[in-house]
This record gives sequence, C-alpha cells and structure tokens, in this order.
Amino acid sequence: MQKLIYLFILAFFGLALLNSCESDTFQYIAPVLPPAPPSDGKYHTPFSTQVYPILQNRCLTCHGAAASGGLNLTGSAAGVYLVVDKSPYVTSSSSTSLLYLKPAGLTTHGGGTVYKGSEADTVKSWIDGGARY
Ligand code: HEC
Repeated sequence: MQKLIYLFILAFFGLALLNSCESDTFQYIAPVLPPAPPSDGKYHTPFSTQVYPILQNRCLTCHGAAASGGLNLTGSAAGVYLVVDKSPYVTSSSSTSLLYLKPAGLTTHGGGTVYKGSEADTVKSWIDGGARY
C-alpha cells in the first residue's frame, strides 16, 4: 500500500513538472538571423533604387522629350529599365555598355561627361553585378 502512495506522489509531481514545461515561462524565442547573402556572394546594386534616380536627375534634359540620340529615359523605374536593359546600352560588361561609357566620359557623348561623384561607379557596379532590377 505504501508503494502505491509513493507511486501516486511520484506521478503527481511528475505530471506537475511536465505541465510546467508547457507554461509561458519557457517560451521559445526564434533567433533573428541576418538576411542570407546572394547565392553568388556578390552585392547587387539594384536599378530601381540606385540607378534610376541618377538617370532621372542627370539625363532628362536631353534624354527626356528631346530624346537625344533616340534615347528617351522618361517613365517609371520599370519602364526605363526595359528601355535601357538591352545592348548596346547595357551589355554583360560595363566596358561595352554605352549607358555607362558615354555619360562617364569614357567615350564620345553628345552630352559630354554627365555623371558626378560616385554615380558612374554606381552604374558600373549595377551593370557588372548583373544589371538586376
Ligand atoms: C546635355 C545633353 C545630354 C545629357 C545631359 C545626356 N546626354 Fe546622352 N546623349 C546626348 C546626345 C546629343 C546624344 C547623341 C550623340 C551621341 O550618341 O553621343 C546622346 C547619346 C547617348 C547615348 C547613346 C544613344 C544611342 O542610341 O546611340 C546614351 C546611351 C546616352 N546618351 C546616355 C546618357 C545618360 C545615361 C545620361 C545621363 C546620365 C545622358 N546620356 C545625359 C546628350 C546628352
């Protein structure tokens, strides 16, 4: 009979113990991880937030309604992306992309050198990083 009481007490505390594990005091807090780097390990300069504003600020005086050289850069980020993301404006390398070379002053351009400060580098890294939107 005494054994039975022991068993009962053990079972009671055992259950109490198990129950306490389910309580809120042991809530699992998911760790916050930094965003995973791109699979190829490269940082990609995005067109929509980094390159598009440069084009809108620097090019529209001649490549707006006037469309110098047949290039019109007016429109939404998505629209302008479709206009420029093709050869010869943007190729697989900045070294052959007119959108980089001409306004950077690295080849003849009706508008001369247009990019200021780090803008040319931004456009270069966008093209060499795969010209992502
Ligand atoms: C002051 C006027 C002017 C500005 C500002 C200007 N351009 Fe131009 N651009 C021209 C003229 C004129 C041509 C046509 C002659 C030539 O191809 O160089 C031209 C041609 C081009 C071409 C070749 C077009 C083709 O179809 O062959 C590209 C690409 C270009 N510009 C990019 C740009 C970009 C990008 C900007 C802004 C960062 C810019 N340009 C700013 C005047 C300008």
